[in-house]
Amino acid sequence: MSELRNALPQIKTKTLPGPRAQAVIERRAKAIPNAIRCDYPLVVSRGEGAMVEDIDGNIFLDWVGGVGVLNVGYGQRQVIDTVKAQAEKYFHVMMNIGTHEGYIKLAEKMNEIVPVRGGARKTMFANSGAEADENAVKIAKGYTKRPNIIVFSGAFHGRTHMTMAMTSKKAYAYGMGPFPDGVYRAQFPYLYRAPRGYSEKEAIEYYIARLEAVFEECSAPDYVAAIVVEPVQGEGGFIPAPIEWVKAVRKICDKYGILLVADEVQTGFARSGKMFVSQYWKEAGCAPDIMTSAKSIAGGMPLSAVTASAEIMDACPAGTIGGTYCGNAMSCASALEVIKFIEDNNLCDRALQIGRKVMNYYKTELAKFGVVGDIRGVGSFIGLELVKDTQTKEPYPELVAAMIKKAAKKGLLIESCGTYGNCIRFLCPLVVTDEQLNAGLAIMRTAMEECLAEQNL
Ligand SMILES: Cc1ncc(COP(=O)(O)O)c(C=O)c1O
Repeated sequence: MSELRNALPQIKTKTLPGPRAQAVIERRAKAIPNAIRCDYPLVVSRGEGAMVEDIDGNIFLDWVGGVGVLNVGYGQRQVIDTVKAQAEKYFHVMMNIGTHEGYIKLAEKMNEIVPVRGGARKTMFANSGAEADENAVKIAKGYTKRPNIIVFSGAFHGRTHMTMAMTSKKAYAYGMGPFPDGVYRAQFPYLYRAPRGYSEKEAIEYYIARLEAVFEECSAPDYVAAIVVEPVQGEGGFIPAPIEWVKAVRKICDKYGILLVADEVQTGFARSGKMFVSQYWKEAGCAPDIMTSAKSIAGGMPLSAVTASAEIMDACPAGTIGGTYCGNAMSCASALEVIKFIEDNNLCDRALQIGRKVMNYYKTELAKFGVVGDIRGVGSFIGLELVKDTQTKEPYPELVAAMIKKAAKKGLLIESCGTYGNCIRFLCPLVVTDEQLNAGLAIMRTAMEECLAEQNL
C-alpha cells in the first residue's frame, strides 16, 4: 500500500463520489436517518496524517479532521499500538464497580495540564462534548447551589436537551422543545459585527453591558451558577473571545460568586498554539474555574473531560455524575498517547507556524477577491468570513457552499461555520506537511476564483 501520509490531494475518478462511494452513499440514505446530515462525497477507506483515501482511491487533504477531532492526524503508530495493547487486556471497567489505572493516569495528566483556577485539581471523564458540558453545568450547580446559567449568542454546546438549550442556533433544536429552564443568553463579543463605529474598547464595553443586562432582565446574579463560554466560538464562526472581555467577565464572576466555565471541546489540545486557550486566559489573570474538553483529546476514540479544583469537583452529591462508559479504558489509553504525541512533537509550536502561514495566505491571496470580510482566530484555529460586500457585510453563504463542493472535487475537504453559514473553518491535522498545506491553500484560491467566476451562485 502506498504512503498516504506524504501524498498530495488527487482525485482519480471521473465523478465525485466515485462509483463505489456512490453505492455506499445510496445505502446510507436508506439505512440511517436523514437528520444525520452529510453533504460530502467521502466514503473513507483509510487515513494517515492529514490525508484520507476514499474507497475509489481518491486522496483528500482533510481540513476538517472530524470537526476538530484529529489534531494529531489519522493513523499515528504509537496511538494505534497503545489502543491495541489495551484491547488485549480489557475493553471496559465501570468506574463505579472497579478502578482501571488508565483513568487515574489520564486524570492526573489532565490535572497537571488544564489551566483552571485552584490548587489541587480533579478530572472526570465522559463520552462526548455535550456530556462534558452537561456535567460541567451539573457540577457548577452542585457547588454554588444555584439554578441558572448564562450562555451566549452563537454558542454551540451539543445536542442533548440541556446542551440544545445552551446552543444558540435553533436549527440544531428545531421541534425538540421544551428545554430545561434556567438557561439565559447574552451577546457574544463578535467584534466584526459589533455596532458600527465602535472602537474595540467601546465594543467590549457594550458587550459587557449586554451581559450585565441579563442580571436585570433574566436572573439575579446570586441565582447564576455559571457563565459558559467557548474561548473561540467554533460552530458560531471561529470567533475569539477578546481577552479584555474575558477579563471583565472574570471580574463579574468573582463579584457575584459565579463560576466561569470554558468549553474547550473544539479549541483544546494544541490547535491554539497552547494546549488550551485557557492557558492564554490564565496568563492574562482570568483563568476559568471549570474547563471541558473532548474531540482531539483521544484522537478519535470517544472521550470527554471536565476539570476543576478538587473543591468544586467534590461538591456534587454521590451518584449524580458519571455513567457506564465514562472514561472507557481504550479511550483513556488513546488519550494518554495522544497527549504524549502532542508534547513530543511540539504540536503547539507547529500550530502557531501553520496558523501564521494560513492567515498570511488568506490575507494576501484570498482578500484580493473582494469577498473576505474577516480573517480571525488563535494559532491555527482560523476562520474566514465571506461577505457579498465588505461595506454592508452581507453574509455570502452561497459562496461558502459552492467552495466546499469545488474544493472537494479538487481533493480538499473544508467545512462551513457561523450563524449565517458564511465562514470557513480551518481544522487541519497539525501533522500536515508543508507541501500538503501549500497544496490546500492553492486549492482554496482556485476554488474561490472559479466559484466567483461562475454565474450561477
Ligand atoms: C464547543 C463545543 N462544545 C460542545 C460540542 C459538542 O460535542 P459532541 O458533538 O461531542 O457532543 C461541540 C461540538 O462540535 C463543540 O464544538
